Amino acid sequence: MNSSKYRVFVCTRQRGDLNNLESCCFNCGSVEIYQAFVDEIDRRQLADRVEIRQSGCLDRCDAGTVVAVYRANLPDFAWLPDKIQRKVRKILFPNRHLYGHLTQADIPAIVESHFIHGKPLKQKLLTNV
Ligand code: FES
Repeated sequence: MNSSKYRVFVCTRQRGDLNNLESCCFNCGSVEIYQAFVDEIDRRQLADRVEIRQSGCLDRCDAGTVVAVYRANLPDFAWLPDKIQRKVRKILFPNRHLYGHLTQADIPAIVESHFIHGKPLKQKLLTNV
């Protein structure tokens, strides 16, 4: 099993017209998706490795519900200058994955693939991150 730690941000921002399903993640059921993540993480006893939070807009409102996943325990390159550390981490450990167009049915597959096996679920990733 993958031992990485993750932080998951589920956009639950409400904006615009409640009847417009395209306007924001809230209107696309993001609160239910947040709860589905909480339930699935709890069911699989991953709470010590996966932290779930609600977030504001992640700037991909067209792809609601949007979820950002970050690895929390990246290796330390403290001996390098800050600018070089960021570049090395970005190249060796791409740290941000953005999922979009999620439904509650997608959550078990994301948890299984990303948090248990360490492989982001490609079918649900947004390509323009
Ligand atoms: S409202 Fe969710 S990405 Fe903007």
